[in-house]
Amino acid sequence: MQYRRLGKSGLQVSLLSFGSWVTFHKQIDDSAADELMGMAYDAGINFFDNAETYALGQSEAMMGRVLKKKGWDRTSYVLSSKAYFGWRKPKKPNQTGLSRKHLTEACHEALQRLQTDYLDLYFCHRPDKTVPMEEVVWTMNHLIQQGKVLYWGTSEWSAQEIMEAHMVAERYRLIGPTMEQPEYSMFHREKMENEYLQIFKSIGLGTTIWSPLAAGVLTGKYNEGIPEDSRLAIKGFEWLAAKQLNEQRIAKVRQLTALAQELGCSTAALAIAWCARNENVSTVILGATKASQLTQNLEALAVLPLLTPEVLERIEAILQNKPVLPEW
Ligand SMILES: NC(=O)c1ccc[n+]([C@@H]2O[C@H](COP(=O)([O-])OP(=O)(O)OC[C@H]3O[C@@H](n4cnc5c(N)ncnc54)[C@H](OP(=O)(O)O)[C@@H]3O)[C@@H](O)[C@H]2O)c1
Repeated sequence: MQYRRLGKSGLQVSLLSFGSWVTFHKQIDDSAADELMGMAYDAGINFFDNAETYALGQSEAMMGRVLKKKGWDRTSYVLSSKAYFGWRKPKKPNQTGLSRKHLTEACHEALQRLQTDYLDLYFCHRPDKTVPMEEVVWTMNHLIQQGKVLYWGTSEWSAQEIMEAHMVAERYRLIGPTMEQPEYSMFHREKMENEYLQIFKSIGLGTTIWSPLAAGVLTGKYNEGIPEDSRLAIKGFEWLAAKQLNEQRIAKVRQLTALAQELGCSTAALAIAWCARNENVSTVILGATKASQLTQNLEALAVLPLLTPEVLERIEAILQNKPVLPEW
């Protein structure tokens, strides 16, 4: 495993990490979660990602049970949660958002469900325009002073919003956001490769990137249709299929699959390594429902050295629909 600093912070996170969205409680039970987290930890993964809203709290509860059973040294891994969406149904006022009340209560609930005394990372899962930035930053700073959170960050915030939080923190001498959790894959690049470039430099932001396989599309598993036991076949996830799956993408995945075969690796490992090769990525969060998937995805580390400038150029040509011309 390789480790990178989370932005300019002193915290080291494994380049590949493991998350539980959709999978924990919905697709897999405790014993499968135990197996996958064990494989991840044994491979050197030290960051496990979660959120209050995943399986409406049940994902945190499952991860908490697995961690308790494993009994790993708490200092050997980094645990996260995120607040914003809430988990109750129906949601009353103050049971969602980034108010001091919800951020604090969601933190307490996450600590209980995960059976831990502190969260290493705590994210504002989305921006909340109804709450003053001062309230968000003061609350996160307070949770840190209380020892309930070690680092706080954002997810899917604009560069401007992150900068505003940073400036509020500077103004009041508080702890500002350390990391952002954006979507990043071969098919989703704007924030990581354009919008955030300035703040990577100016505030040394770390990133824990999500959906590196575009929900599995970049494995090639959807090339011939939607397999029955796959994420995009789950009832209620039609919106995700509409977002991640289309003919143009499949045409590109077919070409990426041919390239991966040439390189002697899986399409999944190629797509994950491609994310990890970006030096502004601190960690790539993997998702998996089966041990065989995780094994394949962990091979991304071995694929990293294969990403020569020539290979990257060929990938770019596929993604941009530009044929690479032969040299004559
Ligand atoms: N901050 C946010 O807003 C946000 C949003 C989304 C996710 N996240 C975090 O990021 C993590 C990763 O996101 P993600 O799960 O969407 O990542 P992803 O890598 O794009 O998709 C993972 C899914 O793809 C399929 N898959 C993975 N490897 C495969 C392989 N080798 N072969 C075939 N299928 C494979 C599995 O689903 P099936 O087996 O069911 O097909 C797996 O659950 C989440 O767990 C969560 O912690 C954060």
